[in-house]
Amino acid sequence: MRRRPQLIPWKAAGRITEEQGSADEVVQATGWVFNNETGDTLTLAEFVATGDSEVAIYIDRFGLGDGEEDQCRLVEIGCGIGRMTCAFTRRFGTVIACDLDAGFLERCREAVARFGKVDRLRTVEVGDGRSLQLPDDSADVAFSYITLQHCDRDDALALVAEALRVVRPGGQIALNFRSWSGLDPLVLPIGAVVRALFRAPGVGPWLTRKRLATRLAWQANRLDPHQVIGPIQGRLSDVVVWRNPARDAPLWGVKHATAEPFEFINRNHWWLVARVA
Ligand SMILES: C[S@@+](CC[C@H](N)C(=O)[O-])C[C@H]1O[C@@H](n2cnc3c(N)ncnc32)[C@H](O)[C@@H]1O
Repeated sequence: MRRRPQLIPWKAAGRITEEQGSADEVVQATGWVFNNETGDTLTLAEFVATGDSEVAIYIDRFGLGDGEEDQCRLVEIGCGIGRMTCAFTRRFGTVIACDLDAGFLERCREAVARFGKVDRLRTVEVGDGRSLQLPDDSADVAFSYITLQHCDRDDALALVAEALRVVRPGGQIALNFRSWSGLDPLVLPIGAVVRALFRAPGVGPWLTRKRLATRLAWQANRLDPHQVIGPIQGRLSDVVVWRNPARDAPLWGVKHATAEPFEFINRNHWWLVARVA
């Protein structure tokens, strides 16, 4: 399979994680890729703590798992090195952590072994960036945070379809997207150029250590609620679009969806939280 450009920055970051001697060093070298914090003194413990608090906030506000999470199976699409996965394994009976990069998945297992419940973890490599090697109706919840914005637009929509396929009827999806904002008409083309640079021999690993380059390279798509929900709304119920209160424009092109404000959400992000009909 020809490796597609939008996958390369992540693969390059994955190679870097494999070169580090410990997960703490991984966090210092590339942890900012996941939570935007930098520092030579960062530790895996602090990194995982950021995921712990976010997981608690999202599970509770979105009402995921119906209070019986330890009986539930959650699929996390784009787990990275396990920042949130640790907390998921403490709450959900089974967590299937999926990521494009096998190096991240290895570090994710290491993080969960230290800070979560590793006996509850399974990992799945998303080799083609768009399909989950999981059976139909095999999960109760599909969750994805700061991942679908980094995929090629068609891959992001394919992963949404995969979330619907693997979650059983009556189960829930909680998927995070990024909408268009002011500088995007500039940022997205620059991102495409930087992604192309990642393909030059020897340049990718160097660029991966550069925060600005990586942040630009991963800007792959912007999707608004009607583009995601429109084609699948017949397959969903209890559809809620969660946004920052600053984003209060009416939802158009989406029938039967409720818009809910939540100040914790990044101004440019939105979440689709719904049940599979
Ligand atoms: C910004 S990180 C977020 C990780 C994690 N959700 C967190 O909040 O710490 C995005 C992750 O998505 C993964 N990713 C990017 N494109 C993907 C794709 N097409 N399929 C699966 N994972 C993907 C990357 O490898 C990376 O680990």
